[in-house]
Amino acid sequence: GGGAARLYEPMNRHTTFLIGGPAQYWVEPRTVEGFAEIVRYLRSQSVPIRVIGRGSNLLVKDGGIRGAVIHPAKGDFEDVRVEGETLIVGVGARLKKIASAARNAGLGGFEWMEGVPGNLGGAIRMNAGAMGTETFDQIVSVRFIDTDGQIKEKPLAEIVHHYRNVPEFEERYIVSAVLKGSPAPQAEIDVKLAASHQKRRTSQPVGASAGCAFKNPEVCGAGKLIDELGLKGRSVGAAIVSDIHGNFIVNSGGATAREVLDLVAEIQEIAQRERGVQLEMEVKV
Ligand code: EPU
Repeated sequence: GGGAARLYEPMNRHTTFLIGGPAQYWVEPRTVEGFAEIVRYLRSQSVPIRVIGRGSNLLVKDGGIRGAVIHPAKGDFEDVRVEGETLIVGVGARLKKIASAARNAGLGGFEWMEGVPGNLGGAIRMNAGAMGTETFDQIVSVRFIDTDGQIKEKPLAEIVHHYRNVPEFEERYIVSAVLKGSPAPQAEIDVKLAASHQKRRTSQPVGASAGCAFKNPEVCGAGKLIDELGLKGRSVGAAIVSDIHGNFIVNSGGATAREVLDLVAEIQEIAQRERGVQLEMEVKV
């Protein structure tokens, strides 16, 4: 697909946590057919495949990633096209860019994306959300490379999705999606965009992190729970629980994946012991 390929690419350059050892093979396709071709080839050689977008919800281990990491972020994958009340978006488009394209077209519903760092693919894979909205509220259909290497498309009704998890896109690789908005006055959209921006700026840390570390348990918010347990500021090496939001672990400079995972285990142990709550990681390892 006319893309680049490299060996032993350091993953700390490709994750918002700024953590992670090297990927054995790093591939950047630029076209959908190029992406599918790479997938078919790697599968024929039994090379393990990972797909990474913005790397904003990801903890890559210090030993790196064996096999190939595919990064569909340029060329076709950056496209954001407005058609009536829908947006046709490439897997590598930034959520911020989607929010602003929708705003310019007078389409509401995408404002929450303004405050979420990430690309469309990751947002679909994990059904990302903020401010009471989640990605699947707006999906019309998703195009993907199926396990047989062919490009297919599924409508919303056929895609099983949960809170922060869409299992079928673990081994099927998203290439684009159709999203639905609803016409709204631009002034109204701007107010919501500002609120989304404000929410992130005032309630979340600016340091290197992967967003919320844990899923919210049924009983209460994970951040609130960690806060109540007095764990803000707790650290292992350079991995530290944010003073601003208890569910964020921040890399204060040169943290290793090991340090983050040890801190995660300590928090889980304390939450279990003190409150009987099982905290499940939201960040993908
Ligand atoms: N709170 C505290 N202490 C803290 C953190 C939060 O008391 O340290 C309180 C807040 O004051 C608020 C309540 O807990 O009353 C909820 O906090 P917040 O609005 O920040 O929402 P959250 O449930 O902690 C969720 C998402 C975030 C998303 C925000 C904003 C999850 C796991 N987290 O956080 O998503 O940005 O809502 O809509 O669902 C992410 O997915 O990575 C992420 C950061």
